[in-house]
This record gives sequence, C-alpha cells and structure tokens, in this order.
Amino acid sequence: MSVITIGIEQLEVGMYVLEIAEQRAGTVHIKSRGRVTSEAAIKELKRKGITRVVIETDVESNPTAGGQPLPANQHLETAVPVERELVRAEKLYQQGIKIQKNLYKAIQSGTVFDDYVPREFSTALVGSLDRNPDALLLMTKIREKDSYLLEHSLNVGILLANFGRFLGLEEQEVEQLAYSGLLHDLGKIKIDDAILHKPGRLTTEEMEEMKKHVNYGVEFLHQMKIAPSLIKWVSEHHERLDGLGYPAQLKAEDITQQGRMLAIVDMYDALTADRCYKAGMSSQKALQILLKDSKNKLDPALLQQFIRCMGIYPVGSLVELSNSKVALVMKQNEKQPLKPLVRVFYSTVGNHYLTPKEVNLATDDRVKIEKAVVASDYGIDINRFFNESVLP
Ligand SMILES: [Fe+2]
Repeated sequence: MSVITIGIEQLEVGMYVLEIAEQRAGTVHIKSRGRVTSEAAIKELKRKGITRVVIETDVESNPTAGGQPLPANQHLETAVPVERELVRAEKLYQQGIKIQKNLYKAIQSGTVFDDYVPREFSTALVGSLDRNPDALLLMTKIREKDSYLLEHSLNVGILLANFGRFLGLEEQEVEQLAYSGLLHDLGKIKIDDAILHKPGRLTTEEMEEMKKHVNYGVEFLHQMKIAPSLIKWVSEHHERLDGLGYPAQLKAEDITQQGRMLAIVDMYDALTADRCYKAGMSSQKALQILLKDSKNKLDPALLQQFIRCMGIYPVGSLVELSNSKVALVMKQNEKQPLKPLVRVFYSTVGNHYLTPKEVNLATDDRVKIEKAVVASDYGIDINRFFNESVLP
C-alpha cells in the first residue's frame, strides 16, 4: 500500500481518500475517509475549500477494497460537539446582526448594497448547521426585545436552512434558502414605526401600508441584482394558498415550494418571538396555530414536515419537569422525542436559579417533562441564563 498526497484537481472518481491534506482557512471540517463515487462529490469537496487530499493508491487500483463511499452531497461533515460549535455560532450570529443592520441602512438611504457579504454569510450559516445545527438553533432563542427586525430575519434564515436540510435538499439550495430568509423582510424598514410596532390590530389603512413592505424589499433586491428565482421566493412570503395573501394574491399553483416554506417559517418565528409588547409563545402553541391556519393558507404537507423538523420539544425551548424544575432543551433524542437532553437551571419552588445541570431524560427515568413553557411564565431572564450558562 502506498499513500500519496494529490491536488484536488487530480482527484478522480474511484480513488480512495484517506484524509484532507489541505483546506482553505475558515471552511468546514468534513468527513474525509471514503471512496469518491461521483464527479458531484469531487465538485462538492472543491466547493468546500478542499485543495489537497491524501489518497491510498493500491485501494485506488482495487475499487472493491474497504471503506464506505463518499456521498455526493449529504452527510459529508463530521458533527462537532455543540459546545465547540457554539463558539463559532455566536460569532456568526453577531456578524449576521451587523449585516442585517447594514442592509437596512442601505435600503433606507437608497444606496446599492453589494450582495457578496450576505451571500457568503449564508454559506457560512449553512456550514455551521452542517457541523452541528443545535448551536445556531440555540442562538435563535436569544432575543433582545428592541431588535426584533434584525433577529427575525436572521432566525428565519437559520430555521429555513435547517428545514431545507431536514428535507434533504441540495446544499446549494439550502444556502439559497438561508439567504432568502435573511432578505425576506428588508422592506419593513420603510414602514412607519407606529404601524410596524403597533401592539394591537392594524386598521385597514395601516394594513394596506404594511403590505407594501414586500414590494419595497423586492425593489431593493432587484437593485442588489439578487437571482430572480430567489426574489420570487421572497415576494411570496405573505402569499397564501387560497389566494387571499399579498401583495399579488397568487393562487396555490403559482406559489413556489420555497415561498411556501418561507411563509411557514416566517409565521413560526413571529409567533415564538418576544416583542416589546408581548412575550413569544411556546413552539407547541405556535405550531398549533399554524396547523389551524394551514387548511387553506399554508401548505399542509410542508407544515407537517416542518413540525417533524422542529420536533416536539425543539432545541432551545424550555420545559418544566416533573420535579418542578425548568430546563433548556439542548439536544433532541431521535428515538425518544419526549426525552431530550436538557439543562436544568431553575426551580419553580421558590422561583430561583439553580446551578445548571445536564440531564439525559432518555436514561434518567426519575424525572420527565410535564409541559413546554416560556421564560416569561416564570419571569426567567433567558438572555442572562444563556450568557452565564450556555454560551462558551
Ligand atoms: Fe414580511
């Protein structure tokens, strides 16, 4: 057996890769060992920034020898522990907020914005989800009450990309979904604050004004020279299958799958977000509301998939346990969805914080989940808890 290092350009289908020898800085860690089974897999490695690989040459001459095939587009990445990914996810999240701010500034002042930065950022977001989706999903739960606009778009980007990954879509499409989430509500900055942040129901006139945010945003995206397909998805995020959405009252057959996904995720994040005038609702309650609304408005099959994607107790949500303690869901347990891995941190007896402790409900049968709760039920300062006990 001999082992040699070759440039990615020399890599061919059938070769057996032992490890990645060189990767451009800042790119993702991927599963390296395996046989290259298709041109698409090579293309994917190049796209991930791999420049040199180590191959085993005698395995190359014997294509039936050892190892699993290297898949073309899925499961390339090795998951990293959530604690490690959180370091990067937190930085990414802050970077995302800054990019959103700059985009809003540009649309407000009528200046053209180069799409390179947000596009690259969308790729980086998906890279983090590939390494460990739980890190960014946790980040979506940190809410500064006065920056709803910024956080909402970023969260929609993250949740939408996560949904796309769940559906097994191609990496490139997942990145575009992330991008469309970031861009979907930019037009809102042109809407009067009194309407945008009005706690109660909007009057007919106010609603007509509010509806304009879609076209304001679309106009800006054309100036940014965003791909027409992506602009179409964004333009559809308030359209509904029954034709009663806005701005174009499109009927179901004219709304793309991506536009339908965007509509679901947009509503979900809006319902679960804390606002200055109201606390966000639990994921379960939000999904129930979407279900009620889904019959004629949201795509029911996609909504079912989204519910499966989020799980009964999504990562980042709060649960009350049978021992009167509140815990944060840290990791889903695919085989036992009612028994995730949680971090216990608050006692409802006496209402006080506890030294955080990780409990795997799948292996600890002394305690179980009573119900989903939200931080405001107990006056819990969730940001403080995140800063002190979750973020690295
Ligand atoms: Fe919107």
